[in-house]
Order: sequence, then structure tokens, then C-alpha cells
Amino acid sequence: MSAAFAAGKVALITGSSRGIGRALALTLAADGASLVVNYKRNAELAAQTVAEIEAAGGRGIAVQADMEEPDDVARLFAAAAEEYGRLDYFVGNAAASAFKSILDLKLHHLDRSYAMNIRAFVLGVQAAVPLMTGGGRIVALSSYGSIRAYPTYANLGAAKAALEAWVRYMAVEFAPLGINVNAVNGGIIESDSSAYFYNVEGMPDLHEQVLPKIPAQRQGTVQEVADVVAFLLDPRSEYITGQSLVVDGGLSIVAPPFFEDATGPLRLPTREDATTGS
Ligand SMILES: NC(=O)c1ccc[n+]([C@@H]2O[C@H](COP(=O)([O-])OP(=O)(O)OC[C@H]3O[C@@H](n4cnc5c(N)ncnc54)[C@H](OP(=O)(O)O)[C@@H]3O)[C@@H](O)[C@H]2O)c1
Repeated sequence: MSAAFAAGKVALITGSSRGIGRALALTLAADGASLVVNYKRNAELAAQTVAEIEAAGGRGIAVQADMEEPDDVARLFAAAAEEYGRLDYFVGNAAASAFKSILDLKLHHLDRSYAMNIRAFVLGVQAAVPLMTGGGRIVALSSYGSIRAYPTYANLGAAKAALEAWVRYMAVEFAPLGINVNAVNGGIIESDSSAYFYNVEGMPDLHEQVLPKIPAQRQGTVQEVADVVAFLLDPRSEYITGQSLVVDGGLSIVAPPFFEDATGPLRLPTREDATTGS
């Protein structure tokens, strides 16, 4: 990353009391950005994020706003405008869904997923663009459920696919304003939400059954995703717009039959094999 690319910039990140949003807030603050830290319930964690930003010499405010509620979205951006007068970065990060099989999804699950994971981002962008008077960057957090199918994720995966489509349309409409719009598509990232997901009844064991099938053979960290979002805010990514950047340790490029399940000459090479050439 170029040195202090975020110095003097103003960033609003939805859902930045925990997880990827928090890691990104601290990364940008360390680089000189001023932050709007949004949360829904965890006022204490949001205050802690702001305290860490301030301890590092940065500036931040915590704003409670439920992204499912259009009035709250408007109030969040009004708070940003009142505090800083403008915005340079908007990161649509907060997400929530009911993890259920398709036949078990009720009307309110469908409606709430739309409100939370799609509408909130569009309303947020509509509020952000007028504040981006000097151009800007917008990033949406997506996941591999937008391109792959796995148990209980249909309601959120389809919303993530819609988000990535919105990103492409927005990239075209806002390019003349000097605003880039991209998505970061994450794999399995260690956080509260992935722990919750793998606790849903019937899910396979993450460590025994899932991680060995990922080429990187581990979860990603929230910092690894935050760093890729930060790259999309950096001037060095100026010519990237309308894209979904995949950060998944290779998860989405493999398919059955998995190398993990192969034996004998077809097993994956060890370091020793590579060294001896066998
Ligand atoms: N973790 C993964 O494996 C993974 C993989 C790929 C993509 N992603 C995506 O990355 C993003 C962040 O995920 P994460 O795992 O870092 O999440 P997380 O650790 O579970 O944190 C969720 C954040 O969103 C906030 N939030 C939840 N509902 C909200 C609402 N209605 N309004 C406003 N804020 C709300 C939470 O605030 P409170 O603290 O107040 O509850 C918290 O700050 C999501 O878009 C997710 O889909 C995650």
C-alpha cells in the first residue's frame, strides 16, 4: 500500500464494531483517515473501536443505525455530513441473514434479507455520492455464496450476487464523478459470523471436513480481507472499477473430485516431494 494513502480522508464503514469492518476501520485510521463507525447493538464494542482509533491519533465517531431501516441509513449519513462535511470512502460491510434451507424460508426472511443486504447498500450509496465532492471509492462486501451454492446460504448468497450486479451498474454511472465502485468477495473468514454459521444444526465440521478442501487449508483472517478493501481505496487501484475481487485462499477454484480425497500418486505434493522431484 502506498504510504498514508488515507491521510485526511473520511471513511464510513457499516458494521465496524466487530470483524472485518472493525479491522478495516483501524487500518484506515492508522493511515490517517477519519472514521464513522457504525453498529447495530454493540455500543460498547463500537466505542472501543473509536477509542482505539483515537489512541492511534485518529478521529472517529460511533453511530448506532440499523441498516435494515431506511430512516436509520439516512440518519447515519447525516451524522457523517454533520461531523466531517464530506465523505471519501463508503464501505457497505454489515450483513445478516437467516441460514435456512430454501423450503424453510418465510416471507419475512426474504424481505429482511433484501432490506439488509441489498437495499441498505443502494440507499447508502445514494446518500454517499452527494457527499463525495472530490470523487471517492465505494466497496461492497460479498462472499463466495454469490457464485457457489452450499447449505443454508441461498438467502444471503443470492443477495450477494445482486450486490455484485449493483456494483457493476454503479461503477458505470459514477465513473464520470470520479467514484470507483467494487466488491470484495470473501471465502471463509474467521469471525463471529462464520462461527455462528458453522454452529447451525446439520452443518459439517469446519476444521475436519471443510478447511482441508481449501487450497490454502485454513480460514482467512479479517485483516486479510480488510487489507484487500484498503487496496481498493488506495490510489494505486484507480483503474479498477466494477469488479469483484476474490479473497478466498483458492476455495472457489476447486471442485470435486478434491485433491484432499485423492490417494497415492494423485495426492498433493509435500515439500519433500517438491525438493526431491518425486
Ligand atoms: N466472516 C466470513 O466468513 C465472511 C466471508 C465472506 C464475506 N463476509 C462478509 O463480510 C462482511 C462482514 O462480515 P463479518 O464476518 O466481519 O461480520 P461480523 O464479525 O459478524 O460483524 C457484523 C457487523 O455488522 C454489524 N451489523 C449487523 N447487523 C447490522 C444492522 N442491521 N445494521 C448495522 N450494523 C449491523 C454488527 O454490529 P453489532 O456489533 O452492533 O452487532 C457488526 O459490526 C459481511 O458482509 C459478510 O457477509 C464474511
